Amino acid sequence: MDIIYHGKAKQFHLFNDRISYVIGIFPNGEPGQLYYGKRIHDREDYSYLINYEFRAMMVGKPDNECFSLEMNRCEYPSFGTTDLRDPAFEIVYKNGSKVTNFQYVSHEITDGKPGLPGLPALYTEDDKEAKTLKLNFVDDLTGVELVLSYTIFRDYPVIARNALIRNSGDEKVMLEKAMSLSIDLPDRDYRWIQFSGAWAREKYPVERELTEGITKIGSMRGHSSANHNPFVILKRKNTDEFSGEAFSAALVYSGNFISQAEGDAYGTLRFMTGINPEGFSWKLDPGEEFQTPEAILTWTENGLNDLSRTIHRLYRKRLSRGVWKEKERPILLNNWEATNMDFDEEAVLKIAKRGKEAGVELFVLDDGWFGKRDDDFSGLGDWFVNTDKLPEGIGGLAKKIRDMGLMFGLWFEPEMVNEDSDLFRKHPDWVLSVPGRERSLGRHQMVLDMSRDDVWDYLYERMHSLIAEGQLDYVKWDMNRTISECFSAAASPEEQGKVYHRYVLNFYRLYERLIADFPELLFESCASGGSRFDAGIMYYAPQTWGSDDTDAVERLKIQYGTSYGYPIASIGAHVSVSPNQQTGRMTPISTRANVAYFGTFGYEMDLNEVSDAEFEEIKKQVAFMKENRGVIQNGDFYRLISPFEDNYCAWMSVSEDREKAVFAYYKILSEPNSGRRKVRLKGLDPDRLYYIDGREFYGSELMEIGVEITETPGMEWKIPSGDFISKVFLIHSREKNGS
Ligand code: DGJ
Repeated sequence: MDIIYHGKAKQFHLFNDRISYVIGIFPNGEPGQLYYGKRIHDREDYSYLINYEFRAMMVGKPDNECFSLEMNRCEYPSFGTTDLRDPAFEIVYKNGSKVTNFQYVSHEITDGKPGLPGLPALYTEDDKEAKTLKLNFVDDLTGVELVLSYTIFRDYPVIARNALIRNSGDEKVMLEKAMSLSIDLPDRDYRWIQFSGAWAREKYPVERELTEGITKIGSMRGHSSANHNPFVILKRKNTDEFSGEAFSAALVYSGNFISQAEGDAYGTLRFMTGINPEGFSWKLDPGEEFQTPEAILTWTENGLNDLSRTIHRLYRKRLSRGVWKEKERPILLNNWEATNMDFDEEAVLKIAKRGKEAGVELFVLDDGWFGKRDDDFSGLGDWFVNTDKLPEGIGGLAKKIRDMGLMFGLWFEPEMVNEDSDLFRKHPDWVLSVPGRERSLGRHQMVLDMSRDDVWDYLYERMHSLIAEGQLDYVKWDMNRTISECFSAAASPEEQGKVYHRYVLNFYRLYERLIADFPELLFESCASGGSRFDAGIMYYAPQTWGSDDTDAVERLKIQYGTSYGYPIASIGAHVSVSPNQQTGRMTPISTRANVAYFGTFGYEMDLNEVSDAEFEEIKKQVAFMKENRGVIQNGDFYRLISPFEDNYCAWMSVSEDREKAVFAYYKILSEPNSGRRKVRLKGLDPDRLYYIDGREFYGSELMEIGVEITETPGMEWKIPSGDFISKVFLIHSREKNGS
């Protein structure tokens, strides 16, 4: 891994064993994109990749009309000179002009990777793991500066990028758009995959062809959203799960965003991602600067599974932080679907006690323990324990839970407030809303103005005090409505365009402060399920509740879709009751667990209500997960059969040393006397003997011949007939002599 500067040509070659990324300074002083993809040989000068040509209706440089930015591949395109495609940034100057002419000034190449103050970002543990290039530009007319940062990692085919804009001039400017990443590609022969959905059906892959014009997704909801995820894959037409070229772009940010690809008239493609320019307007007084969030480009030539595995490993090891980042996650029991808000201490202790008998490790008390909170019309904001329900407070309950030998966790929804709450009565101006206009409600609640420091101070004091009182092991941080009427009573008119982003910055700051105070605490993020499931949040909360939809069949799709961009250890997944509360579907408890194993695993039900036989099965499930969660959560994950394309689903996790694997096979609807089909396993050592369901096979047999799983009696691996049947197979390696 290195970054080589070719001074004569003013070009930078970033490379590691797998990828190369070449940036050149164009004749007009702006940064150009010369190559991104599989590692290429270094050379002194790649200028042959700069286009000089003349086309009708093209505009070019006055001293050489054959050089036009529009005919070249830009790295952080500006607007309004010789390139009229969508720009990466927009700065409005005092005279109303939006034209900027950034000129290369200097660069620095350093070992390691600097952090981004106040923002989540990939990190290194040792400076030798990565190198960072900073390119410095200045607009000669106004003195506004641009710093583009690139980090290349030694061990990952990944480039992390961000941009910083500094007003070093003497007049205020308005920054109206600042992407984290923009890259022009020489062709548009890609298919675009976005991950879209809604509440209860998060992150379904949606694939489409790219053509002339803009393909764009984004969020204006104040959070990254279930509607579209800030993670996009661009793959070649023939790329599949196991072969072919693709790259992905993830925005490390939890607020409004866009990801877009623009096909131009000449067959090239511009991709960009960053904070959504809608609702964003950042005044920069002289001396002030704006730092964009980070964006991560990940590349593969070995198909989408390989792309996902790089992301999984990278996020687990270099985005997630703290003691929990690669630690096996506690098996939890959450009371939400069991009681909703209707509980008292006795009921809670009864549920927890049964959980302990089943072997669970962490009990989580969900919504309803504070303020006047018996339904969702009141109480949010009043973060004081409801002593009618919990007479001995959080501290008293926590002690009793801990005395049972369980860890204890608590639910918060800090960013919200109900009209019927003491907090709102005292501080009506703490809510995001436009004076004189109607305020929309969502789940009967309003959004606190997290851009305000007094709101932050209140929430920090309340959360800190409750976490300390309960000596909490775990916090579930929920957010159950979208932001609307985003206006802050504390901001001046020309600063209203800062409110969305300041909200996110203060939200991150609250996490950061609580992590510093309680480094052992495990955070689980949640936003009505997976509405804030993004790379940004993983820096603070190593796991996120995957979806409020706990139906096993629906979860196959949600977890399968989520696995493209996020590690298995980050997906909150629980077993709940049947019929399922969201879909009414009845599924066997075995299948519910077989799906939830591929996540953080837990139960979302009252285990006192299950039959004795089911309880015995639950005990076995808990024991199974304790034994195998290391492989499942931190192993290499392979998607084998897609539930979006088939009546079946299959996936597996393989330990890093390939000693052990867990393979899961799910049949959605019964198919009696079905045709023959084999599932070819992946990731095993071809020459090792593996033991699976009482038989021995070489890894190569399992991977090349595959296994046949059917309902047909007499076949090798029989699964019962019926709908929603599944089976998990444990695969252990054996020495060749059969030890
Ligand atoms: C939405 C979450 O996704 C649920 O798990 C639960 O915590 C409820 N909120 C509580 O209000």
